[in-house]
Amino acid sequence: MSPAVTANVDPPPIKLAIFGATGRMGLAIARLAHAAPDLQIVGCVCSDADPGHGRDIGELAGIGQVGVVTTADVASGLLGADVVIDFSVASAVSALFAVAARQKVAVVSGTTNLDENALKALERAAQSIPVLWAPNMSLGVQVLSELVEQAVRRLGPGFDVELTEIHHRRKVDSPSGTAKRLAEAARAARPELRDVHGRSGDVGPRPPEEMAVYGLRGGDVIGDHTVFLFGQGERLELTHRASNRELFAHGALRAAQFLAGKPAKRYTIADVLG
Ligand SMILES: NC(=O)c1ccc[n+]([C@@H]2O[C@H](COP(=O)([O-])OP(=O)(O)OC[C@H]3O[C@@H](n4cnc5c(N)ncnc54)[C@H](OP(=O)(O)O)[C@@H]3O)[C@@H](O)[C@H]2O)c1
Repeated sequence: MSPAVTANVDPPPIKLAIFGATGRMGLAIARLAHAAPDLQIVGCVCSDADPGHGRDIGELAGIGQVGVVTTADVASGLLGADVVIDFSVASAVSALFAVAARQKVAVVSGTTNLDENALKALERAAQSIPVLWAPNMSLGVQVLSELVEQAVRRLGPGFDVELTEIHHRRKVDSPSGTAKRLAEAARAARPELRDVHGRSGDVGPRPPEEMAVYGLRGGDVIGDHTVFLFGQGERLELTHRASNRELFAHGALRAAQFLAGKPAKRYTIADVLG
């Protein structure tokens, strides 16, 4: 009888589609995914008005031809994919969730400013496929939001909570999805906190339940967030600064690797961190 032969066989690569593929984040995802041995780009979706429509995603991303041409047809862009990573626009994601659920493709979505309809589409999709939506894919921001909740709870109503976010001049939504998430983290500790998005004129003394959430825009800032806790004679500032866009792409790819093969459910970055 011949002895049993065992061999180390690498698992097949995770088949990845990119939605919003020609955008800044989409191209960063394409560059990193192409370099990752356990990932294979199989489809790329962009809008039909995009100048990159019908072109090889590798050429657009500056890494040479990879043999995947961008399409505006969501169904064919997702064909054969295990996971789709989405960084696009809020108005496009409901259609993406519906097609992904139909074709059983897991979704990692980082698109911000989702409206109620898009969030409903997300919840519906999570009944039949794994879905992870995070307004900030950074692992550091996840830990920051945990620290914010803890600090607001420990310091209590004697401390005034305020929040700033700074982004590049081309950002289209405000406040940032991350700022909203940090505000939620503060509210998890103090539910009475109420966002204000501007103070001007004769506004009177600051009520304790107010929480300013202010956005600054300019230049090429990738994304800075600070939560201030102002007390008597002291203040705490909890800050996260993103220094390059690849940080978010790395987080999204890690989420895609985590999600592939998982049961249908809505997941969070906290699940990815374990
Ligand atoms: N979660 C995070 O960590 C994180 C990090 C960075 C950014 N973001 C968010 O991710 C999103 C994209 O950011 P970005 O900086 O990459 O923006 P961007 O450069 O403007 O890219 C968005 C892309 O989506 C495309 N698009 C529009 N409609 C589409 C459709 N129907 N189907 C497919 N693609 C479509 C746009 O194409 P056209 O130009 O032709 O319209 C564009 O190429 C924003 O919501 C941003 O706030 C999240």
